[in-house]
Amino acid sequence: MSPPELRRGVVTIDGPAASGKSSTAEWVARELGFTHVDSGAFYRAVTAAVLRTGMPPGEWTPQLVLEAARIVSAALAGASMVPHLVGDPADAEIRNPQVTANVPRVARMPAVRAWVNAQVRQVATERPIVVDGRDMGTAVFPEADVKVYLVADPWERAKRRLMQHLRRLPTDAEIAAETDRLVHRDAADATQSVAARDAVLIDTTHLMQEEQVARIVALARAALGPA
Ligand code: C5P
Repeated sequence: MSPPELRRGVVTIDGPAASGKSSTAEWVARELGFTHVDSGAFYRAVTAAVLRTGMPPGEWTPQLVLEAARIVSAALAGASMVPHLVGDPADAEIRNPQVTANVPRVARMPAVRAWVNAQVRQVATERPIVVDGRDMGTAVFPEADVKVYLVADPWERAKRRLMQHLRRLPTDAEIAAETDRLVHRDAADATQSVAARDAVLIDTTHLMQEEQVARIVALARAALGPA
């Protein structure tokens, strides 16, 4: 027998870079029958859009970035709401290293944060969501039904990220270099990346992904109950 339908709700999953938020959130959304939104993908899409202008990052102003963001739209892809660039999916482009290196510069701009937050809130007015990011449980959905904050040892996060990209066991030197990049990005994102006081902290260093998914799904079912 399938579980009873849940009340519409908002589940937020925040945490540092490469803490497994997005893949966990997507899985949780599938289990609950909710829509997944990766807020980081929208910050990445805005960064990719401004990189397309060819303007050097040192000269990016909030006006230029918002102007560039006009090519970004939200579209449903399976169970996820994802950003498109000029109407096309752009997953590879938004995950390239140049975007990753420059996204905190864009994400620090209050006007950009307001723009991304509006996109994400709009989705939540239309459907139940599982949303992941840095400040979803604090700034964007302080009233969320369930808030989770994922943490994991930086070395483990780096190793998982590399295994996903390289599809082989990375060397210690590769893990060390990736750990360095993650720790730098965490520092650049520190202002907006804070666990909500009412968030459930889950340390995933020694957890299998299916265990963390099961925990979050259980929290959501307990909080949202049958429709
Ligand atoms: O989640 P991901 O690592 O893909 O996010 C990319 C970047 O987007 C982060 O490094 C951060 O600068 C920014 N971000 C943010 N607030 C969020 C989600 C992402 O500032 N809610």
